[in-house]
Amino acid sequence: MEIHIRPLNRSISVQSGANLLEALRDHQVPMSYSCMAGRCGTCRCKVVEGTVLAGSADSFQPGGSGDPYVLACQTFVTEPCTIEIPEPDEIVVHPARAIKASVVAIEDVTHDIKRLRLKPAKPLEFSPGQYAHLQFSPEHIRPYSMAGLCGDGEMEFHVRLVPQGRVTGFIASTLKVGDAVRVSGPLGSAYLRRKHAGPMLCVAGGTGLAPILSIVRGALAEGMGNPIHLYFGVRSPRDVYGLEWLQDLKRDYVDLHVHVVVASSNGQVQKGHRTGLVTEAIDADWGALKDWRAYLCGAPPMVEAASLLVKRKGIAAEQIYADAFYSSGT
Ligand code: FES
Repeated sequence: MEIHIRPLNRSISVQSGANLLEALRDHQVPMSYSCMAGRCGTCRCKVVEGTVLAGSADSFQPGGSGDPYVLACQTFVTEPCTIEIPEPDEIVVHPARAIKASVVAIEDVTHDIKRLRLKPAKPLEFSPGQYAHLQFSPEHIRPYSMAGLCGDGEMEFHVRLVPQGRVTGFIASTLKVGDAVRVSGPLGSAYLRRKHAGPMLCVAGGTGLAPILSIVRGALAEGMGNPIHLYFGVRSPRDVYGLEWLQDLKRDYVDLHVHVVVASSNGQVQKGHRTGLVTEAIDADWGALKDWRAYLCGAPPMVEAASLLVKRKGIAAEQIYADAFYSSGT
């Protein structure tokens, strides 16, 4: 049976029951993937026509209320269909793997955020903006975004300590320099799109600054000259961190504009910082955002509010890249 691929306007023949990602790869269709296990989201694509079997038993009916997006690695083709693959010129293939690393430093950057630096035994390939699972012990595993680039030699993560948090409490009080950490990844689809030349809106809430730093560092390393408007939203003045890293980036990246936005002015707001919500600041600063791309990283309510705002301002859903951080609180 035939699968028609958009926007390439190409058809491939596959057997009934074929795994969609395998079929696309077998036919050299440019497609991003990583984990092959339904976890990383990189192989997400849209079913435009036809019915497929997504996951174990759920079938998707176009036109129904179901989500037209499927993970190709978890999808089986049972009848002719049309699939829309995302950004064929922005393919990212970093097969997911697990590597050993050791703790190089655990530093306080605010009253409740630690900067964790690891030395990997071998480099883990990833794209700027992606994340990995860090396993500190068999019972202590959490996803964290890389703040640096894969050629750095060290991996950097920002950890916000959750009150009574089991894993973050372990990081704060038990983990020490020299300890082994297992790093599995990369995961995530909110990675830097290197082919895009227009303005980039980068929104970081709290430790969402880590993947945004990675994205800006990646844009700099790639020699991209896109205007970048970075909005860093925090709860109160004492939650602001990383200003010196942002300052360094601004020195090297001519068209980087940084806005620090503090939600509660309860305390002394530093000169040059704004008060309110990041979404209010973006709304006040910009009209239509046509041809922009948005990278949204932080807690789910901020990511959802920012996503709604930028859609309203004209950024297509496919050009909004977001991996919300869910803190489990345990
Ligand atoms: Fe399909 Fe990771 S490759 S979800």
